[in-house]
Amino acid sequence: PSVRPLSGRRAVVTAGPTFEAIDPVRGLTNRSSGKQGYAIAAALAEMGATVTLVSGPTGLPTPRGVDRVDVESAIQMQAATVAALPADVAVLSAAVADWRVDTVAGGKIKKGPGGPPTLALIENPDILAGIAAPGPDRPRLVIGFAAETTDLEANARAKLSRKGCDWIVGNDVSDDVFGSDGNAVILVNRAGTESWPRQSKADIARALVARIADHLAITATG
Ligand code: C5P
Repeated sequence: PSVRPLSGRRAVVTAGPTFEAIDPVRGLTNRSSGKQGYAIAAALAEMGATVTLVSGPTGLPTPRGVDRVDVESAIQMQAATVAALPADVAVLSAAVADWRVDTVAGGKIKKGPGGPPTLALIENPDILAGIAAPGPDRPRLVIGFAAETTDLEANARAKLSRKGCDWIVGNDVSDDVFGSDGNAVILVNRAGTESWPRQSKADIARALVARIADHLAITATG
């Protein structure tokens, strides 16, 4: 395309699940496919942005023109995301595990007469809240996701203020989102709420990136 409205802009995108090791062969993870985040990274690059995609384990190919950093755990994802700053926009779509195992076993945990092991969990850092916190490196536009099965708008709006981000893309994950090529979302910000009808994840990504380009053009500081 000849129109590249994000030329000269930098973007960081997180996508996919995280994997929190229990021992060398097991871990805690979730059902995120990474497809929506990868589609956003691809659309940002198509619009001319310099894109770092910080990805948890997925089976997806790297979008053309995107610089991909592979990570497993939330701690690694946070470090790679912070290392990708400064950026004009951060789109944090990864499904970060809320908890990790406190002490990762050095060897495979064996079945034994003592019965099943008890896993002690500790909370992972909130990458989105950290990136959205005021500071010299805060991207001008910080976008988070909310995957909910009930009360989508109320939960998305609560997340907007709790995380300190600028926009939340909310999606109802009660049916056919994980691994699907389609998605239906709401876009929540301080101006209001928009509902976007079900469409392909690629089309959602293109629409979101068009909005990002508009926002960065309007709020440009130089
Ligand atoms: O709190 P919750 O996980 O529902 O928030 C979802 C949003 O926060 C997503 O944008 C997700 O990428 C981000 N998040 C994060 N780090 C966490 C948990 C969530 O960046 N530890």
